[in-house]
Amino acid sequence: MNNYLHDIPTKIYFGKGAIENLPTALSPFGKNVLLAYGGGSIKRSGLYDEVMAILKREGCKVSELAGIEPNPRVTSVEKGVELCIANSVDVILAVGGGSTIDCAKAIACGVYWKGMGIWEMCSHKHGLMKALPLVDILTLSATGSEFDGGAVISNLATNEKIGNSYTYPYASICDPTYTFTVSKYQTAAGSADIMSHIFEGYFSRTMDCDLSDGIAETILKSTMKNCMIALKEPDNYAARANLMVNSSIACSGIPEYGKTRSGWICHGLEHELSAYYDITHGTGLAILTPRWMRHVLNKDHSVLDRFLKFANNVMGIEGNDMETAFKAIDALEDYFRSTGLPMTLSELGIGEEHFVDMVNHVEKRLDNQFVPLDKEDAIAIYKACL
Ligand code: NZQ
Ligand code: ZN
Repeated sequence: MNNYLHDIPTKIYFGKGAIENLPTALSPFGKNVLLAYGGGSIKRSGLYDEVMAILKREGCKVSELAGIEPNPRVTSVEKGVELCIANSVDVILAVGGGSTIDCAKAIACGVYWKGMGIWEMCSHKHGLMKALPLVDILTLSATGSEFDGGAVISNLATNEKIGNSYTYPYASICDPTYTFTVSKYQTAAGSADIMSHIFEGYFSRTMDCDLSDGIAETILKSTMKNCMIALKEPDNYAARANLMVNSSIACSGIPEYGKTRSGWICHGLEHELSAYYDITHGTGLAILTPRWMRHVLNKDHSVLDRFLKFANNVMGIEGNDMETAFKAIDALEDYFRSTGLPMTLSELGIGEEHFVDMVNHVEKRLDNQFVPLDKEDAIAIYKACL
């Protein structure tokens, strides 16, 4: 087991009615609030009115940034920074899914950014930055943005989508009832994202981390089970609650404690797909993951033990040979398909025309992996997804 640092400063107010803690969460900061949200789901669900009533009661002055896109654009970050500066905003309140929270994190840092332009901030590697305080109300279980310091911002003009460290939310309000309105498609895609955050750390050469592996295996099984329930019964509280807590923990680093970091290559490959085709992040991951698994297992048989652990402990497939491992990968692909997600790039209208450019963008990440890859490997994985 390797050394690790635990440093997660975010307060999580979890559960039905957790919004009653919003005034407490905002209270350390001033009364000038930037309310950031997406394309309108919070207005349709009534959450917008609920939040505005609380902010009014608390005597807050509210500026609004509406229309943050899925795969949030740098242009929305720029708009938000301008609003914060023009209105002397004290705290940002992001209400939505990962895209809204990510955009808000970049805005919070962009206010203090002294470099050239906002895209320069988003596209250059940096650590956590000076930022306005951020509080969020989560409405979609997927990314873990409510409990981590990262954000992913897209620049469609340059076909780039880049993840970076920014700032942790000061507090996240996580009420599973706010996810009852999430569509079947986003429920399935969000669950695939949760599972991918686990896979990216679980498939590691470090084999002696019992707690991390146990957490990872439990989150995988729980997410598969509760996603299927939520697809059939969108307002099943227990299912939505389990997905929500899984979302927060999966991307928090906790399931990787003590493990050598693997390089998160499925995320690297997926962000390229989103950057070129603006697809839903979790869908891209569901398509890529089984193909990546088959590729690395075929390339390096020394990782068989790790795949057998996955087969036995997660997919319930007994055995101790290559066939067992491949059966588990097939079962995972079947599971993703059963949630209704498209499982090929062709179904999304994606061909191989940009594969070389996409691989050139992720080239630096390919080597530092659970199974090191080269450009030909990456192209082969994309092609297997067609
Ligand atoms: O925009 P609105 O109208 O709110 O609708 C959204 C959007 O259309 C809708 N939605 C959200 N909550 C809803 C709802 N619809 C009905 N009821 C609700 N309660 O769902 C759609 C997708 O929302 P989005 O925020 O884009 O989804 P998600 O949470 O999956 O976020 C995806 C983004 O996060 C990044 C992804 O790359 C992508 O850009 N990621 C962020 C990470 C992080 N910060 O740590 C890690 C992840 O790996 C990921 O890369
Ligand atoms: Zn993800």
